[in-house]
Amino acid sequence: MPNRRSRPIGFFDSGVGGISIFNEVLKLLPNEEYIYLSDSKNAPYGIRSSQEIIALSLKNTRLLLEQDCKLIVVACNTATTNAIDELRLRFDVPFIGIEPAVKPAILNSQLKRIGVLATRGTLSSELFARSVREAVQHQIKITEIEGKGLVERVESGDLRDSKFIKELKVLISPFIQQRIDFLVLGCTHYSFLRPILTDILPDSIQIIDAAKPVAKRLDKILQELNLKNDLQRNIIEDRFYTNKDPKILSRYVPANSRRESRVAYLDF
Ligand code: DGL
Repeated sequence: MPNRRSRPIGFFDSGVGGISIFNEVLKLLPNEEYIYLSDSKNAPYGIRSSQEIIALSLKNTRLLLEQDCKLIVVACNTATTNAIDELRLRFDVPFIGIEPAVKPAILNSQLKRIGVLATRGTLSSELFARSVREAVQHQIKITEIEGKGLVERVESGDLRDSKFIKELKVLISPFIQQRIDFLVLGCTHYSFLRPILTDILPDSIQIIDAAKPVAKRLDKILQELNLKNDLQRNIIEDRFYTNKDPKILSRYVPANSRRESRVAYLDF
């Protein structure tokens, strides 16, 4: 039985989006071993009911615990905002979640107008409602847009389709009309759209997500709980499971000379 520190860190998301978190985590914590679950068969989570999102999150967590994970990163805003309380109640393992980075936008907005691009599931959650109340207290106006179809697009792996880029321009045009100065990407899938969004939006709009802060928080929690691993092996093996198309997941998994990334289909 390996000691607690040497066990893997588990990630789950409704699909490939959580890889944007994994990328930041890897920079900070290269001496850990990871297991990633991409529940692409059930994506998008954002149009599902809270009960369904909780049920899917429980399923993913059980599987990661069967794989002996020492900590679970809920690499999905929709799952975090709808299910993390329930997960913490049910399982005796530390969880790190991700929520739209509204706070830094509130604190740094000069124009007092920020935008949030997120799924319906996140925008309608109680956790997000709290962020909105905080914004109101700071006299910040939030323009919220549901990223309809964006998760499906990222899941398709084809981001440079010209028809899609035209539709995206229309979808996000209220951010330009409202003259926001911060855009919060409130869905881990959307981080892969950042280069396109940067092309479309004026330079005056700063685009932020919560990937780096989540990585820092994970590092801090591992230290506090004495769970930080320090693998010194030349090659570390990570596992990436998808219940849909491993070819698509492989496109998002980063290449890294020190890591052997096994991408495989798993029925879960
Ligand atoms: N990556 C998930 C998130 O951060 C996408 C949710 C969905 O599948 O709709 O919210």
